[in-house]
Amino acid sequence: MNLNIAVLSGDGIGPEVTAEAQKVLDAVADRFGHTFNYSQALVGAVAIDECNNPLPDETLELCKASQAILFGAIGHPKYDNNPDAKIRPEQGLLKLRKELGLFTNIRPVQAFDALISKSPLKKDIIQGTDLVIYRELTGGIYFGEKTLSEDGTVASDLCEYSKPEIERVAHLAFKAAQHRRKKLTLVDKANVLETSRLWRKVVTAISKQYPDVELDFLFVDNAAMQVILAPSQFDVILTENMFGDIISDECSVIGGSIGLLASASVGSGTALFEPIHGSYPQATGKNIANPLASILSAAMLLEHFNLITEAKTVRDAVNRAISEGVVTVDLNKETNFSTSQVGDVVASFIQKNKEVLNY
Ligand SMILES: NC(=O)c1ccc[n+]([C@@H]2O[C@H](COP(=O)([O-])OP(=O)(O)OC[C@H]3O[C@@H](n4cnc5c(N)ncnc54)[C@H](O)[C@@H]3O)[C@@H](O)[C@H]2O)c1
Repeated sequence: MNLNIAVLSGDGIGPEVTAEAQKVLDAVADRFGHTFNYSQALVGAVAIDECNNPLPDETLELCKASQAILFGAIGHPKYDNNPDAKIRPEQGLLKLRKELGLFTNIRPVQAFDALISKSPLKKDIIQGTDLVIYRELTGGIYFGEKTLSEDGTVASDLCEYSKPEIERVAHLAFKAAQHRRKKLTLVDKANVLETSRLWRKVVTAISKQYPDVELDFLFVDNAAMQVILAPSQFDVILTENMFGDIISDECSVIGGSIGLLASASVGSGTALFEPIHGSYPQATGKNIANPLASILSAAMLLEHFNLITEAKTVRDAVNRAISEGVVTVDLNKETNFSTSQVGDVVASFIQKNKEVLNY
């Protein structure tokens, strides 16, 4: 297969982890006879520095013309610490999602057997966890109108959802559930929020088209507790934008590090694959960030193009690296490897005719 992939590595550790995902994709291309062509483009704080625009037109055009986007992370402390900044890195990512119609973010969460001891949660709680979060990505409070009174003392953010916005992500979530354990949990706050009541109504109506999928509901405050108390009860979690953002970061504790959680954003335009973590500015340039979330995002990219064996090969290589202790410092404080060493080892497990690196 020939694939044109836009690479938007962004800020902080973004370029470091994305380079490892590319290394692994190259190993896949080599082993399975595919051709992956990469085109780099600016996004986030680096794009503001260069063009005063977190999503330059050329970047957007490249993304539209590509078949997939490999995304790193955006964000820089100079903006995080300046709430008055009008041009901000995250605007680049939000605009990209909106422009490409990427209305669903898919975030799988698993407990890796070899890492169970690394999780701050007890083994019997996390063992067997295998859930996926379907988070609505282009609506809700992150995109609603924002106001700040002239004297700067009153602010508001509008949370708005329409029936079609809920329907399209719900259909994807139900279809995913049909291919999994056939259970879908809608996470909302329907006791308080009108938007959540609309979500319940629309999702309940849609569920009639998926009689083989069991639907249940959970308030987000309870869900925040349940994903930590008993994560293996979940199969597919469907939720709105902000709740999904928070719940999925919380779920990273299950796997042992946020540096393991991958995601795919899909919708009407070019699909985008990115780790769920941010730009982790404290680690920039130190070669210590965990590249596995980015590498597993590349596996999701392969799956998106039905390259199932290739994706499984990447996952198997990641599992092997983890079980052989080839992990970064977030997963092992005593014996650890650098970002690029982990990428090298994972790639060497995949590449044909290449000796597995000594480590
Ligand atoms: N999608 C995105 O690009 C995205 C998402 C979240 C935050 N951000 C931005 O990133 C910047 C930093 O935000 P933050 O500190 O809240 O979140 P973050 O995800 O960058 O880092 C939070 C913590 O998670 C851990 N971590 C994150 N990535 C890791 C990795 N690959 N390996 C090992 N440990 C890792 C570190 O302990 C880090 O201190 C901000 O500017 C924020 O706006 C961007």
